[in-house]
Amino acid sequence: SAAEKGGYDYFMLKEIAEQPKAVADTLLGRIDASGLLTLDEVRIPAAVLREVDKVVIVACGTAYHAGMIAKLAIEHWTRIPCETELASEFRYRDPILDQRTLVIAISQSGETMDTLMALRHAREQGAKVLAVCNTNGSTIPRESDAVLYTHAGPEVAVASTKAFLTQLVACYLVALYLGQVRGTKWGDEIEAVIRELSDIAGAVDTVLETMEPVRRLARSLADKDTVLFLGRHVGYPVALEGALKLKELAYMHAEGFAAGELKHGPIALIEEDLPVVVVVPSPRGRSVLHDKIVSNIQEIRARGARTIVIAEEGDEAVVPYADHLIRIPATPTLLQPLVATVPLQVFACELATARGNEVDQPRNLAKSVTVE
Ligand code: G6P
Repeated sequence: SAAEKGGYDYFMLKEIAEQPKAVADTLLGRIDASGLLTLDEVRIPAAVLREVDKVVIVACGTAYHAGMIAKLAIEHWTRIPCETELASEFRYRDPILDQRTLVIAISQSGETMDTLMALRHAREQGAKVLAVCNTNGSTIPRESDAVLYTHAGPEVAVASTKAFLTQLVACYLVALYLGQVRGTKWGDEIEAVIRELSDIAGAVDTVLETMEPVRRLARSLADKDTVLFLGRHVGYPVALEGALKLKELAYMHAEGFAAGELKHGPIALIEEDLPVVVVVPSPRGRSVLHDKIVSNIQEIRARGARTIVIAEEGDEAVVPYADHLIRIPATPTLLQPLVATVPLQVFACELATARGNEVDQPRNLAKSVTVE
């Protein structure tokens, strides 16, 4: 009913709007006044976490994209090797797991069969499993050694939005906690990131307030067949997530690419007026990547692409090459997906509406896939 949707036309719109609160709720009570993480609820003893020599993340769909970003955070902040794998591929390739492997299973519903089977396989091999889950008492946390709940609240729309942002938050917390427990690389950068995390809900809110041009742009593209998405580092999973949203909701051909791969094939797809969304890393920090992406934008634009550029506030280098510029607040590099994904959700939702599609219940899809 309309009341359930809180006055919005679709659950998806409501859930997009709830993201600042979902993010804040997922942080609540997990960072103490001195900026340390208090994750006692993760019932894997610190002694065990100190012995972990490999992290493996398993998930499906949108949760898998959160896992790809989590890998970058975990390796950067803890120096523990980490791989992220599609749950449906994982157990069929005889993965290397033992008592020192920490497996993180990410799932909004806690009922996805592929993810459940992957974690069962991991536990059989002696690995410890930590679930990152949004649904209290669901099967995946029940069968795991420990759980860190995301506090997104119920997510009804099939296409995941607020659950994704909270999965990212939970994964950042796990990464930082592993770093804290192990004493690795704990320094100014990590303290700054924890401070920035506390402000991030406000940044998401800022993005939400500036989405009207994105909706207008989406409506203008309703007749297109294809949209491409490019990104690098954390921007690459964001590009994949943007493309997934568009497939799910707009039934359009949408592909995400690592921008560095452009020259190895995808650039052949560029033609006159093809919309290409580019997620631009911060010009601060890893500025080498920033400059490389700016060259990519120039290259595709020279070949006729219509460039839709998502770039940090104050990044002036992109301005001459952006047909459409979507601004996001500056964040630490690894946290950028929390703000960069939001315009892509709005974009896909509006395109779906413009194309007359059912937003909350896309054809052929289920909220939770409980078969393999
Ligand atoms: C389905 C949903 C996706 C979701 C995926 C994983 O395919 O349509 O939105 O990302 O399952 O779901 P989970 O509940 O495990 O996060």
